[in-house]
Amino acid sequence: MTAAPDMPAGFELRSYDVLASTNDEAKRLAAEGAPEGTLVQATSQSMGHGRQGRRWESPAGNLYCSLILRPACSPGEAAHYAFIAALAIRDAIAPFLNADHELRLKWPNDLLVDGAKISGILLESVLRPGGGVEWLVIGLGVNIVSHPDIPDIRTTSVHAAGGAGISPRHVLAAFCAAFAVWRARQSQFGFAPVRRAWLAAAQDAGQPVRIRHGGEDMDGIFVDLDESGALVLELENGMRKRIMAGDVFPAQSQMAHS
Ligand code: BTN
Repeated sequence: MTAAPDMPAGFELRSYDVLASTNDEAKRLAAEGAPEGTLVQATSQSMGHGRQGRRWESPAGNLYCSLILRPACSPGEAAHYAFIAALAIRDAIAPFLNADHELRLKWPNDLLVDGAKISGILLESVLRPGGGVEWLVIGLGVNIVSHPDIPDIRTTSVHAAGGAGISPRHVLAAFCAAFAVWRARQSQFGFAPVRRAWLAAAQDAGQPVRIRHGGEDMDGIFVDLDESGALVLELENGMRKRIMAGDVFPAQSQMAHS
């Protein structure tokens, strides 16, 4: 077993055995003034949660982590961090997977291997009275040794895709290094390179999809990701609609959500 790697400069790790939720702990620390770069990691979570209040099963062996940022940006720009995080997770785990597996990014903030969910991202933020972002917490769940058995959702793990022997701490260190690179690109060139890279790796880009949100379905072609991070859907009548929230399925899929 190799020693746990240190985190790159600019990241300060706080590790716990068990937490209810690393996002909840990171939000508590952020509200108390914890600095940018604070990372909260737990071996397991008793009440891990995902988007739309979904439960995130969190047994030992996988990565559960939340990063505190204090970006000088608007709430709209804060949404870009989900795409930066997705690219950084992609870069962190891709080298460990067997080459015959396909790793893709799913709008708004999932990662899939051969169509099965391997990771999810949960962004939570608090705004200043003036409207800027006070702090932002980016929560990452990465299935490393195990993946949950959830009805109607295909899931997988780094181990199942060929990456045996890799620890949550190794994935976290690789994530931090890649996150710093993507963030530097974004601060130098704006959202364009992140958007381009994300779209090039996106699941179903250019394809017919169904968007499900609030019990409603909408069909169209997934034609773009816009400046705000919205999915651009081209409807049958040629009109383009910006989708701000929802679950995306390949048009023929009967799955409930993934
Ligand atoms: C999703 O796919 O809906 C997002 C899942 C995010 C799960 C991670 S695990 C670490 C952090 N703590 C939580 O309670 N949630 C996020």
